[in-house]
Amino acid sequence: MSITAIKGFNDILPGEVEKWHHIEAAARDVFSRFGFSEIRVPILEKTDLFARSIGDTTDIVEKEMYSFIDKGENRITLRPEGTAGVMRAFIEHKLYALDPLSKLYYMGPMFRYERPQKGRYRQFHQIGAEVTGVANPKIDAQVLTMLSRFFTELELDEPTLEINSLGCPECRPAYRETLKEFLRLKLDALCEDCCRRFETNPLRALDCKVEGCKTATAGAPAMLEHLCTGCDTHFASTREYLELVSTRYRINNRMVRGLDYYTRTTFEMVTGLLGAQSAVAAGGRYDGLISDLGGPQVTGIGFAVGVERVALLLDAAKFSSSPDLFIVALGEQSERRAFSIACELQARGVSVEFDYDGKSMKSQMRRADKLSCSFTLIIGESELASGKAPLKEMATGVQTEVTLDTDSIANHLKS
Ligand code: HAM
Repeated sequence: MSITAIKGFNDILPGEVEKWHHIEAAARDVFSRFGFSEIRVPILEKTDLFARSIGDTTDIVEKEMYSFIDKGENRITLRPEGTAGVMRAFIEHKLYALDPLSKLYYMGPMFRYERPQKGRYRQFHQIGAEVTGVANPKIDAQVLTMLSRFFTELELDEPTLEINSLGCPECRPAYRETLKEFLRLKLDALCEDCCRRFETNPLRALDCKVEGCKTATAGAPAMLEHLCTGCDTHFASTREYLELVSTRYRINNRMVRGLDYYTRTTFEMVTGLLGAQSAVAAGGRYDGLISDLGGPQVTGIGFAVGVERVALLLDAAKFSSSPDLFIVALGEQSERRAFSIACELQARGVSVEFDYDGKSMKSQMRRADKLSCSFTLIIGESELASGKAPLKEMATGVQTEVTLDTDSIANHLKS
């Protein structure tokens, strides 16, 4: 039996990969306009990094990490997300000493042992962006506006920006207790997971997808109504700046993120087009993370886009590319000439295909058609003798006689 890929790990094949190029190019373009530079960090990190940043009692750390002991007895983990590694690098290289304000972006694979389904995989890809060193809510609005712009550039209007505030260490503990009081009376109606998390992470009950939990938590107290003055002002100001630049958003006061490092502003870009996997991007502020990881007291905010989910929203057909020219050659001498013309044109930036095996004219034409080439050039014995050959534009059928040299062919392809 042949060996197949690991469950939840996907190949990205030609035809599909062009969409990925388009998504990545849009991110690089938009993010650079907002002053972000790329950072590349390892895929493997020490397990403790994720336990300390994402949180010991989160689903990711409890159940989903690909962790193992390497040959040197080190406990290491395939990164389940990008923020922790980027902040580890920020601290390790003392980037804050140069300037506490940094704007970094990254792209690459992440790994979570989740139950695979459409839009949810065990290896998936994120494009993420992180800003450190700005406490002012202007940056919350800029980051959200940048994320919205990225989707606009992809001509995707559908994902809607939802925002919430999760408060801070000053106001969240009191809210947590208030929520627990409310949930204590509903424990019988909550699912097993929510009951288990009642002590450690009661907020998760608010965004549980189980119907019983949704009904039981309807009317639960909301964090937004229990913010301290600092968090309340921050949220109001973030909204004001978003409105100032017409960045559309909706408040979702039940949004709870699955990672523990968040404070104040949290957000998701949601779509109704991907079934249960509604978040195509998500993020928030993490003002305590850098100091918790041993760095200075520097604030942070960022997000990650799920590339597979964005790709599912885009139409592959729009991004497929086809060769500029197919050279049909008949006879050994013509094949040699086609080979060298193709190489010369490829060196000049023209995409060219030709036949490798001396196939019939009909079969070569069929292949040119299949590849959706813009032009075909036919070279046979008489074309070699006259030094001129027919160049046909496939869409219109218009045929022009061109001199058999690369300048002349290239000029005709351009015109
Ligand atoms: P997250 O919400 O865990 O946040 O993931 C961000 C996005 O990654 C999700 O909205 C989703 O589009 C995609 N994603 C997550 N898991 C999967 C999966 N199993 N298969 C396919 N796509 C998936 C974070 O990872 C944070 N680090 C985001 C962040 C950056 N917060 C601050 N800075």
